[in-house]
This record gives sequence, C-alpha cells and structure tokens, in this order.
Amino acid sequence: MKNLLQPMFLLVAGVYITTAAPTPDNVESLLQRSANPRASQTKICQDLKIPLTVTSTNYVFGLPHFNNDLDVANWVVTATNRNPSIKKTVTPGTKNITATYTIGARFCQPAPGKKSNKVVLLATHGIGFDKSYWDPNLPAELKSETDKYSFVDHAVSRGYAVFSYDRLGVVSSSSRQTSGYTVQINNQLEIVKKLAKLVKAGGENILPGKFGNPKKTVLVGHSFGSALSYFAVSDEPDLVDGVVLTGFSTNISASNQGTALVAGFVPRIANLMEKKWNGLDSGYLATVDGNSSAVIFFQQPDYDPAIAEFAAANQAPFAVMELSTGREFSFNPPVTFKGAALIISGKYDWPFCAGDCDDVLANPGAQYFAGARPFKAIVYPKAGHGLNFHLNAKGSFKAITDFLYENGL
Ligand SMILES: *[C@@H]1O[C@H](CO)[C@@H](O)[C@H](O)[C@H]1NC(C)=O
Ligand SMILES: *[C@@H]1O[C@H](CO)[C@@H](O)[C@H](O)[C@H]1NC(C)=O
Ligand SMILES: *[C@@H]1O[C@H](CO)[C@@H](O)[C@H](O)[C@H]1NC(C)=O
Repeated sequence: MKNLLQPMFLLVAGVYITTAAPTPDNVESLLQRSANPRASQTKICQDLKIPLTVTSTNYVFGLPHFNNDLDVANWVVTATNRNPSIKKTVTPGTKNITATYTIGARFCQPAPGKKSNKVVLLATHGIGFDKSYWDPNLPAELKSETDKYSFVDHAVSRGYAVFSYDRLGVVSSSSRQTSGYTVQINNQLEIVKKLAKLVKAGGENILPGKFGNPKKTVLVGHSFGSALSYFAVSDEPDLVDGVVLTGFSTNISASNQGTALVAGFVPRIANLMEKKWNGLDSGYLATVDGNSSAVIFFQQPDYDPAIAEFAAANQAPFAVMELSTGREFSFNPPVTFKGAALIISGKYDWPFCAGDCDDVLANPGAQYFAGARPFKAIVYPKAGHGLNFHLNAKGSFKAITDFLYENGL
C-alpha cells in the first residue's frame, strides 16, 4: 500500500470504498474498485495521522500513580468525596504544557458521482468508545445490520462528509506515547479547536480525495465529545457554523454526573485487563465488563444485547484525568454562538439526564444557546445514552441531518 508522506500530514492505510451496508466483500481499496467497477459505492474513506502541537493549562494528577485496582478504588472514593479539600487532592494544581501529539482520523465523503453538499461534520466520540462509534465495524454475524448503526453511512448518503478522529489517548491518537495522567479536558479541548480550524481551511492534506474546501463545518459530539464541542463554541463562537450535541445536556442538577458516573464505570487499570492494552500506562482505565457499561450506555429493551457485547468487546480505555477534570457548563455558555445548535439525547439517558430527559435538554440549554439560529432540543424516544447503538438509532441520524438541512447546513 502506498503511503504518502507530506510535510505536515501523513496519509496512512489507504482508501476504502464501501456501500451503504458493507460486507467484507465490498469493503475495498481503490485498486480493487477499478477491478470491480460495478460495485455500487456510496462512500470513500481515508485514514489520516495528523501531528498537532497544542498548548493547554493542564491539571496535575495529585495522587500516586496506580499500581493496582485498589489504588483505582481509592481514586474513585477520593475524586467523589463530598469534602472539597479531599476531592482537590486529585487535581491540586495546574501547569501550562505545550506538546505535540499524533491524532488518528478518518475522512469519509460521498463517492464520486454521488451528491455532495460540501458540509463537513467533525465528530468527537465519547468515553469508552473510539472513532468507530460513528461507523462501527461489526462482526460477521452483525455485519448486515451496519446500516442501522452507522452515522457515517447515513450522513454520507445525505451528502455530508464526516471527519471523525480518535480522542487523544485513544487507539490511533498518541495513546502509548501519552500518559493517562495527563490526557484531560483541557488538552482535548485545544485539539478539537485546532482540528476545526484545519477542517475549515480544507485542502488535500486534511480533507483528502479531491474534496477541496468545505462550504460549512459542523461539530458533532457524543457525551464527553459533546462537552468538548460545547466548550469549543463557548470559547470561540466563530469556530464553526453548527453544533450537534448527542448524549448530552447542560443541566447538571438533573444528571448523574459526578459520583454516580465515576463509580458507574466500575473502572479497572486497562493494561492489567487485556493484552491488547499493554503499553498504556496505568492512568488508562476501562470498565470492568459490558454489564457495567450497560448501566451507562444502554436502555432495555431498546437495544440488541449482541450490540452491547460488541461495544464492550471493543471498548476503548479512557484516561483517569478525563474523569477527574471538568468545567461548568454555566461558566462561559455559548450565548454568542450564532450558528445552528441541536441537543439530541435518548429519552432515558442515564449520565446526562438521570434517566429522564424530558424538560432537561432545553433547560437551561435554550438559555445557554440564546444566540443560536436556531436552537433545538430533541428528546429521542426509546434510547439511552449510547444513542447510536440503540435499535432506532437511524431515526436519530435522520433527525440530525434533517435539522442541518433545514438550517442551510
Ligand atoms: C498559563 O497560561 C494561562 C493562559 O495563557 C495564563 O493566564 C497563566 O498565567 C499561565 N500560568 C502559568 C503558571 O504560567
Ligand atoms: C455480563 O456478564 C455475563 C456473565 O459474566 C457475561 O457472560 C456477559 O457477556 C456480560 N454481558 C456483557 C454485555 O458484557
Ligand atoms: C433542570 O431540569 C429540571 C427538571 O426538569 C428543572 O426543574 C430545572 O429547572 C432545570 N435546571 C435549569 C437550570 O434549567
């Protein structure tokens, strides 16, 4: 396979073309495609490695680094202590850090000849997943159901391009080179802002496949990825033209964030759990099993248990500092953001709505997005927090692209 080394960007792993419901046979490289021109391609995807240098004010981890899971248990009870001075021992101070990371990304666009509206959706996944949350690579027995769960396939079929990336510390994004004791909200936030600017500027290095420059750019997030997208437009209201926040709400009092969420993950040191996580330092944690992640992500009976098993088997570790650092949604709300803003969450979202999103998404979401044109909140039926993995996920994908289309995006 031909690798193209460029001054700033490394294009890796070639080009993939898939149909709306990919099977192993029609997931092809470009070369195979020319050998089989009758395959009906709908999307082209290319993988990228993007070096980014970012400066951020990072919290410093104040506890001893973990040697075993009892140390992790001690972090859980310290980080969730009701006494602020004990809680503060987890993040006793800050330090300004400049570092260079490699971000692994995937850019998918409509195949040549298909409708393209030149709008790029920059997608940030949440904790416990990697960028494949937006386009899961399901096992053979579930492959035929990809269409139900692939946000990318849906968006591309509606003419959108999707730029998804692994958050810092996840799989292809400097995970073994970067400590889980440093990966946190503030460096993740600077990364999404930088990526948004690069995507907006366009060009072959960042949006390969002759895409050129996007007409419009939209941030799309899930969960922690939504929080990052929200803070990005709070800090820089002109960053993008629209923002779609899934598995999210700004209403902290009606949520299970904090104590319940941290404990609900039932975290364990990732490198002690699975060989495939060797080389990650002990600051990377994973949920103990799929039954614990079901508390956070799934609502019975609105999902296929086989998908919960798949999600658990493919979970991505997260950094302890991602769950130890945060920022108030009310601190600097995006009131001056003038683009289109959508919050869409499963009705039963447990971490962000404490299991019932009615009257939660727009309160105070509508006040925080007072300048958005328009702001919309959708409580999506029959789904929990892991929206894309519920049986009716596709309806939520359609609600998102309808919202964008209706608002000129
Ligand atoms: C870190 O950077 C921030 C923002 O630029 C600045 O306000 C602050 O004084 C810096 N802190 C230190 C310790 O250098
Ligand atoms: C839940 O636990 C059972 C028993 O250990 C296990 O067989 C099953 O795979 C788990 N479910 C998920 C979704 O991980
Ligand atoms: C959060 O949601 C609750 C439940 O609907 C509501 O009573 C409360 O006013 C909301 N908080 C804010 C700040 O809007």
